[in-house]
Amino acid sequence: MSLEGKLALVTGGGRGIGKAIALKLASQGADVIVNFFRHRDTAQETAGEIEALGVKAETVRANVGDPAKIDEMFDTISTKFGRLDIFISNAASGVGRPITELDVKAWEWTMDINARALLLCSQRAAKLMSGRGGKIVSISSLGSSFVLPNYTLVGVSKAALEALTRYLAIEFASQNICVNAVAASAVETEALKFYFKEGMAQEGHHLTPAGRMVAPEDVANVVSFLCSEEALMIRGQTIVVDGGTSVGLLALAGKGG
Ligand SMILES: NC(=O)c1ccc[n+]([C@@H]2O[C@H](COP(=O)([O-])OP(=O)(O)OC[C@H]3O[C@@H](n4cnc5c(N)ncnc54)[C@H](OP(=O)(O)O)[C@@H]3O)[C@@H](O)[C@H]2O)c1
Repeated sequence: MSLEGKLALVTGGGRGIGKAIALKLASQGADVIVNFFRHRDTAQETAGEIEALGVKAETVRANVGDPAKIDEMFDTISTKFGRLDIFISNAASGVGRPITELDVKAWEWTMDINARALLLCSQRAAKLMSGRGGKIVSISSLGSSFVLPNYTLVGVSKAALEALTRYLAIEFASQNICVNAVAASAVETEALKFYFKEGMAQEGHHLTPAGRMVAPEDVANVVSFLCSEEALMIRGQTIVVDGGTSVGLLALAGKGG
């Protein structure tokens, strides 16, 4: 599954799941552009770890919730490299509050970063993949299909992201661009601490049929496979990486069998 000679862009690639994806793609031989927003230091550290694997790394700052900044980022990539082979839409943010406390600003913030960014970035990425084909993978969560506490806006944005992934997959198929999503259950990162209560990690170990929580590397392994030629005939799918959590729900409730 070599990605040698490929150029990848990972949004939010400086830390958490994005970092694991950036390192995995680099370990397969891809040069990686690490996008960040607020944490330049961690992005630069990740770029250093990528280079230590023997490939090239760049960092590029852009708030993917801002169309002008997305354009600037792709203009930079276009001028510097003139191409892109792999685009990973990983960056996410969101307002985690009960429905009664949600306002227009919270809706727009969450939807712009989590869903609209996939549309705008994919439009620009596809132009840079033109003629050679490429891979686009978006990162979703179980909250797109299941109701999680205080997760309404992010869950709705992830449902939009998964639907958009299917539309992109069909429209870009003729350009030999494979588009898929990976949806994870709870993964131990900064985001988990923000959205969910303390002790979630411990509960996650007990509730996951596979016996442990999903790690960033578990997500990265599937993303890397979707970026390989072996996954060529997988299009528009959302691959669930949850250690069996979602299909084991009935069993957990004592209603299985
Ligand atoms: N953690 C989980 O339990 C879990 C489960 C399922 C799915 N996911 C999904 O996995 C992805 C990564 O999550 P994570 O847990 O690794 O998150 P995280 O630890 O909170 O990191 C968020 C990343 O997104 C970047 N980011 C945030 N807002 C941005 C913006 N406006 N423009 C550009 N970059 C921005 C951050 O960059 P800076 O550091 O530079 O600000 C950071 O690299 C997300 O799509 C998330 O929804 C997470």
